[in-house]
Amino acid sequence: MTEKSTIPAIEVRGVSRIYGEGESQVAALRDIYVSIRQNEFFTLLGPSGCGKTTLLRLIAGFDFPTTGEILLYGEDIAPLPPFKRPVNTVFQSYALFPHMTVSQNIGFGLQMLGQSKAEVKTRVDEMLALVHMEAMRDRAVSQISGGQQQRVALARALAPKPKVLLLDEPLSALDYKLRKEMQIELKRVQAETGITFIFVTHDQEEALTMSDRIAVMSHGSIRQVGSPWDIYDRPAERFVADFIGETNFLEAEVMSVGDGRATVRLSSGVQIPATYPEDTVPNGRVTIVIRPEHAQLVQAGTAAALNGIIQNVVYLGTDTHFHLLLDDGTVFIVRQQNSKSGSCGFAAGQSVGIDLSHDVAQIVKD
Ligand SMILES: Nc1ncnc2c1ncn2[C@@H]1O[C@H](COP(=O)(O)OP(=O)(O)OP(=O)(O)O)[C@@H](O)[C@H]1O
Ligand SMILES: [Mg+2]
Repeated sequence: MTEKSTIPAIEVRGVSRIYGEGESQVAALRDIYVSIRQNEFFTLLGPSGCGKTTLLRLIAGFDFPTTGEILLYGEDIAPLPPFKRPVNTVFQSYALFPHMTVSQNIGFGLQMLGQSKAEVKTRVDEMLALVHMEAMRDRAVSQISGGQQQRVALARALAPKPKVLLLDEPLSALDYKLRKEMQIELKRVQAETGITFIFVTHDQEEALTMSDRIAVMSHGSIRQVGSPWDIYDRPAERFVADFIGETNFLEAEVMSVGDGRATVRLSSGVQIPATYPEDTVPNGRVTIVIRPEHAQLVQAGTAAALNGIIQNVVYLGTDTHFHLLLDDGTVFIVRQQNSKSGSCGFAAGQSVGIDLSHDVAQIVKD
């Protein structure tokens, strides 16, 4: 690995952004620390108002931190105005120039940078090829579809060869199918260009499918940074587990800890293994999370970790959701994949057991 690649593309150090004063004060960001690696597809994920756009605006230079600093390849970018930063942004609204053609939109920024006509043409051709829009180069952008506009916006932002591309919910205006297509396109373009992408979304599925790493945000703070697997299977906090996918929360008691696993006792008295966040040593009463697809229904009477009654069976094509009421009154969801042969043999009203023996529990901080 070269020395350069070990320096983060973006390093955010102790950044806060406070808007307003006195009682109307809003802390849009609180003491953020995060390092984003070169060539990484990094996603900021969190609910509306958690500070995602604010962080992008600070990186782009459209706004300034109240405290802290942002480094680009090890250098403080505070003195650089937005147009001098090797950073470009794709906005949710695309903000294309409606009276210009596809090619003119892509080339506009390059002309502003003083590139020659020949240089601009070469780069526009490259970008048109990259986003598969060669055939529409002379169309007015008002006469192309939403997905095509999205490609033009991407090509325009990539044309000046930024080191870092910021994407603020660029797919949210697209319908489901097109959105899925563009997710794959964005991944491809990122891999082909090797540019660091910082992608903002509040859609957890989108974040899981696209990202190398995800930062989950809440109320101006980063709650957890990790790979999609870390975030989904090893959530550190209740908020992260709840925000990402469907989750069962159970109360349990820690019986012993060792070797990266704890043994916890459930309300049924049964003991099961549970993983826990790296920076904690769990003890006493804890909350554990179990993903619905990791639990398994078994016939009543079989040795099981929990017992309950099936309240509802929801068939969803690829899988079936069973809503259970446990003996202690807790609601618990089990998801099982459907097979071609159809019936799984479990129906509403039936007493069943839940098998949790396959290392499925994770302790989370409340
Ligand atoms: N110029 C401003 N003045 C005052 N408060 C602001 C300003 N800009 C943002 N905020 C507040 O800061 C917080 C974070 O806003 P931000 O736009 O970063 O959220 P977001 O995560 O991008 O949300 P969304 O998903 O809705 O786009 C919000 O509470 C917002 O109201
Ligand atoms: Mg936003």
